[in-house]
Amino acid sequence: MNPTLRYKSHTVTLQSGETALDALLRVGADIPFSCKGGSCHTCMVRCSDTAAPSEARKGLPAHLVQAGYVLACKYQPQADAQLEPRRPEDMLTRCVLTEASAGADGRVVLQFEAASEIKYQRGDRLRLVGAPGAREAEFELTSDPAAGDFLLQAELLPGEAAHCPDWLSREQLAAGGPAFGHEFDVRGPFPAPAAVAAASDAGETRPPPPDPALWAELGDGRIARQVLEAFYARVYEDERLRHFFEGVTMDRSIDKQFSFLKQCITGEKVYMGDRPRNAHHWMIISNELFDYRQQLMKQTLQEHGLSAEQIERWTRYEEVFRPDMVKSEPWPRRMGGVDVMREGFGEEVLLVDSVCDYCGGEVLSGTPVLFHLRLGKVSCPACASGVRGAQPCATANETSTAS
Ligand code: HEM
Ligand code: FES
Repeated sequence: MNPTLRYKSHTVTLQSGETALDALLRVGADIPFSCKGGSCHTCMVRCSDTAAPSEARKGLPAHLVQAGYVLACKYQPQADAQLEPRRPEDMLTRCVLTEASAGADGRVVLQFEAASEIKYQRGDRLRLVGAPGAREAEFELTSDPAAGDFLLQAELLPGEAAHCPDWLSREQLAAGGPAFGHEFDVRGPFPAPAAVAAASDAGETRPPPPDPALWAELGDGRIARQVLEAFYARVYEDERLRHFFEGVTMDRSIDKQFSFLKQCITGEKVYMGDRPRNAHHWMIISNELFDYRQQLMKQTLQEHGLSAEQIERWTRYEEVFRPDMVKSEPWPRRMGGVDVMREGFGEEVLLVDSVCDYCGGEVLSGTPVLFHLRLGKVSCPACASGVRGAQPCATANETSTAS
């Protein structure tokens, strides 16, 4: 018997070799994910299976392992399990204080930096972790990630002063406040009672002016193509990057990137493709991952004999798009000024015969199927029902041809 997973309203029996994430996507579960390779942690869920393979917990901090979290994209269950979305109360983040102030009106405001990213919206709440078991003082986040605020700022909520840890007591504040650099942990974020959704409205990024001399120096593009061939050969092998490219051929990546760069550097209109913001709209790319990709590119450019100055000129055409790619939540695609969300699932009746992307079985035209809008994967009715296990699927109408 293959194991069965439950998540929100879904129940799914796993096919052999299938990860929890793939099984849940097959049945249309609303589970966040991005890299599908264990590096972004977007798919982290709480799991009742205490014997989940260590591979599923790799890279998670000890307190989350202890609280039962796994990465759904790395989790191949061996036993039935119940999964649930992450709970704000389990999320601890180390922070470093830059300033704590107390106004005459009693308002206590903290400014601090988080050691790892906290995904929040202005108005969300954080709790200050104090002594074990003690009630934790609650703060409202008054900084706004959508406005690009780098430091976090939080204000103590009324009635919470008594629950502040010693380092933030009235006496401490009166004596000038805790020291710059003081380290502490926060719990959360907890959603604001009335969510303040500040829509991100980044305008269209334009590349720097063309630099046709650079294109000539790159052998009229010949060297640029060689660089891209070597670069993508690396990317497609790279543990941190390759998962983003699932389903995209290397040739396509090289061609797209080549014509994109050619257009930027020469100014000729040769690129037919998405603008970077839309092409990467679903990818959770941190600044650190972007730096990592840039380092790989720099290394490749050096190996192809480009000087430091030429590398700087090439890199300008990539760096300018950093704000269009680095994000902690997927963005909608922006089409003609309108935001179109392409996450989630659609239900369609097939117009032509097709094949189920999960079990490989034939699905006849006229069959209603479930498909993931971004991945483009079709799930036949049997697979989408979640009850089918390892055996291959027949068509929904059960009129498959004998062979
Ligand atoms: C960590 C950084 C990056 C990752 C993980 C990444 C990943 C990807 C992936 C997976 C695709 C294929 C999308 C698809 O075909 O559906 C893609 C396409 C593309 N990327 Fe990136 N990328 C990164 C950085 C960059 C940078 C710095 C540039 C240059 C400005 C760039 C330019 C492009 C272009 C022009 C396309 C083609 C868009 C299209 O198909 O219409 N990417 N990228
Ligand atoms: S770690 Fe699972 S989707 Fe990235």
